[in-house]
Amino acid sequence: MKKRNGFPGRLARILAPSFLSALILLAAVAVAGEEGAPPKDFRSWAHSKSTVVADKANPLHGFHNQYVNEVALATLRKGGEYKDGAIFVDSVNAVEEKNGIYVPGAKAKTLVMIRNRKAETTGGWVFQAFDPAGKPMKIDPVKDCFECHQTGAKESGFVFHKYSE
Ligand code: HEC
Repeated sequence: MKKRNGFPGRLARILAPSFLSALILLAAVAVAGEEGAPPKDFRSWAHSKSTVVADKANPLHGFHNQYVNEVALATLRKGGEYKDGAIFVDSVNAVEEKNGIYVPGAKAKTLVMIRNRKAETTGGWVFQAFDPAGKPMKIDPVKDCFECHQTGAKESGFVFHKYSE
């Protein structure tokens, strides 16, 4: 039997561990990066709902387009408890109205909910908010987000909107 101890084999043995640690490092950086930015490409996810809150005095004022990833969509459709990794994105724009036609104006912010059962103080969801440039906004996830979701959507796992065709 021919032993694989020639130059390519030795090179692979030397390089493999460092390649692996480079990969692990890259993965760690990618995960950290995700926390500091809205989910990449969420606009190509399923678009689950649009809502216009025209009243400027309403804290939810804005033109909301909501998106779900595949993990969230499965539960949104059939009901039950959301699995870790489910993500909801609420992309908020200003509301523009001309002759009774409401259209999204300038981007206002991106709100994100990521299912993670470890986030116990906020009902098992990580709440995030990003400004139009995609930079994290300073929020108190309990007071600014969860308390309202808890009051209004406790029965549906703190998720307000329902599936509709
Ligand atoms: C005053 C109450 C209130 C507050 C405060 C609030 N939300 Fe919501 N949120 C809602 C309502 C109501 C909806 C559903 C709107 C609809 O049906 O279109 C919603 C929808 C969402 C959705 C889509 C998933 C769902 O529940 O339907 C996300 C994501 C979201 N909010 C994130 C946030 C984040 C992040 C914060 C804090 C920065 C926040 N929300 C603060 C009331 C609130």
